[in-house]
Amino acid sequence: MKVCSATMTRLAACVAVTFATAAFADEVKPEWSSAAVPQMGFNNWNSTHCRDEFNEDMIRGVADKMISSGLRDAGYRHINLDDCWADWQRDKSGNLQPNLKRFPHGIKALADYVHSKGFAFGLYSSAGTNTCEPHEANRGFPGGLGHEKQDAAFFASVGADYLKYDNCNNEKKPAKERYSAMGEALRATGRPIFYSLCEWGENKAWLWGADPKVGASSWRTTGDISDKYDSMLKIFKENVVLDAYAGPGHWNDPDMLEVGNGGMTDVEYRSHFSLWSIMAAPLLIGTDLRKISPSALEILLNKEVIAVDQDVLGKQGKQVRDAKGIHVIVKPMKDGSSAVAVFNEGGAAQDVAVSAQEAGLKAGKYRMRDLWKHTDAQGDGSIKVKLEPHATVMYRISAM
Ligand code: GLA
Repeated sequence: MKVCSATMTRLAACVAVTFATAAFADEVKPEWSSAAVPQMGFNNWNSTHCRDEFNEDMIRGVADKMISSGLRDAGYRHINLDDCWADWQRDKSGNLQPNLKRFPHGIKALADYVHSKGFAFGLYSSAGTNTCEPHEANRGFPGGLGHEKQDAAFFASVGADYLKYDNCNNEKKPAKERYSAMGEALRATGRPIFYSLCEWGENKAWLWGADPKVGASSWRTTGDISDKYDSMLKIFKENVVLDAYAGPGHWNDPDMLEVGNGGMTDVEYRSHFSLWSIMAAPLLIGTDLRKISPSALEILLNKEVIAVDQDVLGKQGKQVRDAKGIHVIVKPMKDGSSAVAVFNEGGAAQDVAVSAQEAGLKAGKYRMRDLWKHTDAQGDGSIKVKLEPHATVMYRISAM
């Protein structure tokens, strides 16, 4: 329901927005743009960057695989294109246009395909004159700075439900201004669009991203992840201390998943997935799912860990211990249980004990569910475990 202003000019704008909303109403599903829980889905960047394999066959194949593998049913609902989807020039009217070599049927047709399979569709741009990835003329692709209204209208017209908005070539203009301009333009389209800020934490977006002028659904807190244990570890440490800023509608984003890309062991990928989930981080798969190994797929399909990430209470887990290479993170859950992750960052195995009190639990009897072994035990809420190098155990602890 829209409250309209009394002045004629504002009334006209209000009517336009109301019509636009109605025009999109039949084709959008509320969960496609909702940030009530962290976003889950797929983005091509970590696996393809701008290589030629990033094209419409890949995206269609990934959508199909997400269905046949059970990922869609496990909650992965976004399919997002990253940098290099666009042609390096705008068209004669100044509109963005797709790179037709990669997307010969255009972006709208791809969005329609993605929607027809039950997924939300996402696009990418930058709050700068150009995006990040240089092409042959040594600039990025056209960015949104100064083109916010026209580009937002384009995103809505092709059926985008999600925009990742990067920070390259920003001409040193104030970040909040740049991100507000696109936020306002997206809202003015009338199409609900999940707004994902990607300013790498340079301007501490967690302090202003949730301001209604900006209207961000999530914000990157760090620089780019790479498919290496040290990169994942560094990013985890930067993001885990920001728990106060995340909540329903606005999430800290420590970047996309590397699970499946081959640069970490399965133990490390399980830690990556556990830590992102207990931090209520976006779970955006960054591997080419058409070629994923069974062991990596099993990690991404762990519904008990996913449930921790997607819990509707919307708390980012709090780190209650960071000592001698051991991290203990506790996340309160809507049903009154607590999720607890214990992570050994170091290169040697360690025996670790976490008391019930340290995990924030009152004296009592608890059901201890091991979220990786899928086994139950009873106990007083304390944890005793031998942790292999780089390993994480994760429990959901409920009062009995
Ligand atoms: C930046 C972002 C990445 C990716 C690239 C694309 O580096 O942080 O996630 O979108 O740009 O060029």
